[in-house]
Amino acid sequence: MRNVTKDNITEAFKGYMGDEMEPRSREIMSSLVQHLHDFARETNLTHNEWRTGIAFLEGCAAIESEDRHEFVLASDILGLSSLVDMLHSRPDATSSSVLGPFHVSGAPPLPVGGDMKRDFGGPVLLAEGVIRDTDGNPIPGAEIDIWQTAPNGLYASQDEAQDTYSFHGLMTVGEDGRYAFTTVKPVEYTVPTDGPIGAILDACGRHPWRPSHLHYIVKAPGYRDLVTEIFPDDDPYLDQDTVFGVREDLVMKYHEKPASEFPEGMALSGKINAPFLAVEFDVTLAKA
Ligand code: BEZ
Ligand code: FE
Repeated sequence: MRNVTKDNITEAFKGYMGDEMEPRSREIMSSLVQHLHDFARETNLTHNEWRTGIAFLEGCAAIESEDRHEFVLASDILGLSSLVDMLHSRPDATSSSVLGPFHVSGAPPLPVGGDMKRDFGGPVLLAEGVIRDTDGNPIPGAEIDIWQTAPNGLYASQDEAQDTYSFHGLMTVGEDGRYAFTTVKPVEYTVPTDGPIGAILDACGRHPWRPSHLHYIVKAPGYRDLVTEIFPDDDPYLDQDTVFGVREDLVMKYHEKPASEFPEGMALSGKINAPFLAVEFDVTLAKA
């Protein structure tokens, strides 16, 4: 097209796409460019504003590395990661939630009843529950990959003072589908703000905090993998999680219990002499 105008440029773009283009790629590119052009027309985007947007993308690229995923973080704080997640979540299963950039795969095995807290201080949190199918039957042999922040608010991958797999564990449940472990209650923390995402949050008048959470990836043969998180119901950031990860069924009561109620058969049984916190969180997996 040689007489391109602000009104026909979107159709011109669509016309430039080749006949042999894969249909889903055509659908996605057509819609993406339609929305992008409509956005520029609607806001009457100026050159300066366009340059700011390009500088933001360049800033993300400049900071991106194996340990720093600024584009994913952009998607997270814009709500896109959570939206994609919810578009494909199964209503009959436990809600999924954001993976985040701090999971380290290959965690060492953590036996059922094991302790992730090791020598860190702070009150003990006992987390337990059953991995079930959508009919309520336990799933024997399901695997649960667990990770969280240390009490200083940092994940192992962010903190040279921690071992690679500190506060990470991989548990395989038995015939009863039950998992159980002790840890310290994770703390609220901020997403990294020393790059372009910090600037966007500032510009939007937003804070960078996430509520306290435990991360799980739950897998079993024949079932859909589930990436999820558990949140305590008294966290001040529950209604303003900066990455939009909170779902009603993932918010749990953490009960304070006397030491005398600490169960048998755990790594810390017989070693608890102060009140502890306990949370029950059953997980439902959908069939693959
Ligand atoms: C996290 O929960 O680890 C996380 C999720 C999204 C962005 C940053 C951190
Ligand atoms: Fe997290």
